[in-house]
Amino acid sequence: MKRKLTHKAVICIILLVTSLEACQKLFPAAPKAEDDISNGVVPGLTTQQLAEHAVGDNEFSHIFTQQEGLGPVFNQASCNSCHIGNGKGTPVTALTRYGKITGSAFDSLVNENGPDLLPNAIPGYLGDVMPSDANAFTHRIAPMVMGQGFIAALADSTILANAYPHDGVSGRPNYITPTPFFIPQPIHIALNGKYIGRFGKKAIKVSLQDQVVFALKTDLGGITSDYDQTDVSNYLVGINTGNLVQDPRVSAGFVNHLVMYLRTLKVPPRRNTNDPDVIAGEQLFTGIGCASCHISTMVTATSDIVALSNQTFHPFSDFLLHDMGSGLDDGVPEGSAQSFEWRTAPLWGVGLSGNSQGGQLFLMHDGRATSFSDAIALHGGEAASRSQRFFALSTQQQQLIIKFLQSL
Ligand code: HEC
Ligand code: HEC
Repeated sequence: MKRKLTHKAVICIILLVTSLEACQKLFPAAPKAEDDISNGVVPGLTTQQLAEHAVGDNEFSHIFTQQEGLGPVFNQASCNSCHIGNGKGTPVTALTRYGKITGSAFDSLVNENGPDLLPNAIPGYLGDVMPSDANAFTHRIAPMVMGQGFIAALADSTILANAYPHDGVSGRPNYITPTPFFIPQPIHIALNGKYIGRFGKKAIKVSLQDQVVFALKTDLGGITSDYDQTDVSNYLVGINTGNLVQDPRVSAGFVNHLVMYLRTLKVPPRRNTNDPDVIAGEQLFTGIGCASCHISTMVTATSDIVALSNQTFHPFSDFLLHDMGSGLDDGVPEGSAQSFEWRTAPLWGVGLSGNSQGGQLFLMHDGRATSFSDAIALHGGEAASRSQRFFALSTQQQQLIIKFLQSL
């Protein structure tokens, strides 16, 4: 008995040692504190700001129920279901946005519960199906939401400084008709009553408040707020059916706490910045012109949150729209963004994407690229020359750029 056990133990140890590496791959260890994007606040917040952040943190992972007004149609029941641990989502939770193109006119089919498909429904109701007259649709995976306060604190003049022909590219702002509840701040510059969008993959949302109000109503589904009290519905069943709970479902205060949460999430942490390969990779990245759009350094304007005032940060984006070519044309224009135009994806945190994507990379707006080189190969239009330069580099030089991207 004793000998048998020892024998088994030995086999066990051998199995354990040989499969340790495989096991580690199957069950990746929890991220080290410095790599963890799921938590962490901007340094230097006041006690009051920290308290508001904590309230918003709970709201972000709150799972809404039918009794709280979720539905009748919805996509997910919490913000966290798509923005997993504040990180990037996967194609599984990608949202579908649709519309109808007639000639050069685009209709986002609001009367048929557009623009976003809400495929799920509370018991007894039907989920959205794509309207039969929709002839354009796009899929979007959820972006990471760290560092949003820094983007929100940029002055429009800082964004405009990189716009139009510039460094061999030509980014342009997406001018958006503001929501009725938008209150312009000194950082905003209007053009014919429109304002520069900076959030969303085509920069369609001017402020975090716009994004949050929209997300509650249409990324979740039916969580109306003081700012927007019109419920979602399934147009096949009838407008305002399944409206069990009085609108608005959440208060302005609820929205403001979520906004405060997003504003005060720290920037995604960088790693291995002293690694000579990473340093060489960044030089190559800049040298072949990736940094013309993925601008490394920006400075915030003065903000009511002192910790966000006049801060230098490294988003690796210009927050402008670029023609990315026909391969990335999703057929869906938004605001003044054409269907082939996309806001330069901020690259900060891109090296941590896999943490919230099950160890696999899903890059670009719909997650179709599963490696950094796939993502670079998809760069067409204005970025085509940069992509060609990347693939003209030696394999070793390409690896240096990828090592740099992994450090972000
Ligand atoms: C169904 C998945 C889904 C859910 C649920 C969801 N989001 Fe999003 N979120 C997205 C997608 C996709 C985008 C990009 C939208 C676009 O391109 O216009 C986005 C964009 C954002 C952005 C802008 C980020 C950027 O890079 O510009 C913020 C902030 C945000 N969401 C916050 C929230 C909050 C807060 C909630 C909960 C109230 C929420 N989201 C719920 C999928 C989701
Ligand atoms: C003309 C502007 C422009 C240039 C130049 C450019 N990019 Fe991009 N990049 C973009 C845009 C816009 C996106 C988002 C496209 C989308 O979501 O479909 C993007 C997305 C990416 C992504 C995926 C990010 C994510 O989170 O999914 C990576 C990685 C990337 N770029 C790396 C590079 C590298 C490396 C270079 C140089 C070889 C480069 N880019 C040059 C505009 C540019």
